Amino acid sequence: MARVVQAADVRQRLLAWYAATARDLPWRHTRDPYAILVAEVMLQQTQVDRVIPKWQVWLNRFPTLQALASASRADAIRAWQGLGYNMRAVRLHAIAGQAMAEYQGELPREVGGLLTLKGVGRYTAGAVACFAYEQPVAMVDTNIRRVLSRVFGVAPGGVEQLADDVLPADAAYPWNQALMDLGATLCRAREPLCLACPLVDLCDGPGLLPPRAPSASGEAFRGSRRYYRGRLVDAVRGLPDGGSIGFAELVAQVAALPDYGRVQALAQQLVRDGLLSVDDDGRARLPI
Ligand code: ADE
Repeated sequence: MARVVQAADVRQRLLAWYAATARDLPWRHTRDPYAILVAEVMLQQTQVDRVIPKWQVWLNRFPTLQALASASRADAIRAWQGLGYNMRAVRLHAIAGQAMAEYQGELPREVGGLLTLKGVGRYTAGAVACFAYEQPVAMVDTNIRRVLSRVFGVAPGGVEQLADDVLPADAAYPWNQALMDLGATLCRAREPLCLACPLVDLCDGPGLLPPRAPSASGEAFRGSRRYYRGRLVDAVRGLPDGGSIGFAELVAQVAALPDYGRVQALAQQLVRDGLLSVDDDGRARLPI
């Protein structure tokens, strides 16, 4: 019972806070499912500030699912430059192809239908269903997990059920966006700003989640798997149209000498991931 009362108060308080302070983010001005899908995929691993300009440029370049499906995979990878985690470009391009083949170029409205798209997980399916089609569905990303876990005093693993239970069915869109805003601005992983929080007196309190380990420093990133994957894709992305580079030369160009063997293996993995193509003559380029 206490939980029911708390949830009602939390809903009212958080929605009022959101109405007064919502961040003006460009994807909040559209209900185009494709544009929202692109935003959510970009936001999965890239900060809001970096996503905003990239999202706008991407949509100018590929304004519709159809436009993206008609482009080559290489074009999609090129347009992803600067966002990191390039696999996401491959996945988005494949989703566009699948939506054309199986859904007449539309994205399904329901979570179940969205989940049939390869590479769309429960979070992304929920985000498209809610933010494009205004369906009353919950979703849980890192920020939402942290906020709900703290506010309701629930272990992080129990948040999926909780998110469904506390969702206001008549205000799912602002509720989900508000949870994201709260997690990004006040209910941060480290040093949450509890005194500025609209829920401070309703909250079971931070501390259920251990603080995140400090993020890897630049030193640790250089030479990492993600670092080398990024540099390898950058190197072929920078080739002139129709250009190619010898596979061995590509690896040598990118790898610090002691890392040569490891980077060669990483480049081979990129081929398997569809981010790099190598022909019979050993020439490497972006996949068509
Ligand atoms: N992070 C993931 N999705 C987001 C959204 N729609 N708005 C702000 N931050 C987000």
